[in-house]
Amino acid sequence: MERTFLMVKPDGVQRGLIGEIVKRFEQKGFQLVGAKLVQISRQQAELHYQEHLGKDFFERLVTFITSGPVFAMVWQGDEIITLSRTMIGKTSALDAAPGTIRGDYAVHTNLNLIHGSDSPASAQREIANFFSEQELISYNKAVQTWI
Ligand code: PPS
Repeated sequence: MERTFLMVKPDGVQRGLIGEIVKRFEQKGFQLVGAKLVQISRQQAELHYQEHLGKDFFERLVTFITSGPVFAMVWQGDEIITLSRTMIGKTSALDAAPGTIRGDYAVHTNLNLIHGSDSPASAQREIANFFSEQELISYNKAVQTWI
């Protein structure tokens, strides 16, 4: 069982897409183990995007992600890191396929609605940047036996 960090970005919150995004992961069969609306600080944003420090879009990315509240979540499930990124779709709005979250709702690469961890190491670091252990709740979900 794997965990990942997913975050509805400020554009997704502003557009009222939290419910739609949560619905997709719930209906896929993944389990929500933590969630909160957060106004993130610049320091927290720089830590979150640390591997992109120095890239030409870094400043734009940090400014954007701190521009309004985000909806931070931890989800768990088998192969969730890979599967959630498939559900999110490609970074570029031009490449994101219909049926993916970005393909269905995003029109700009810099306003691409949602972030998802890209590896187990990133997931661990990103979860720790947003949640304490006490905020993550594991519980039995009967439906899991059918998925
Ligand atoms: S890279 O260079 O391939 O590692 O970059 P990539 O994984 O595609 O994107 C890293 C994060 O930066 C965001 N991004 C951008 N933001 C604003 N403008 C531009 N041009 C841009 N290009 C990439 C991208 O959405 C990734 O953020 P997250 O939150 O992980 O989606």
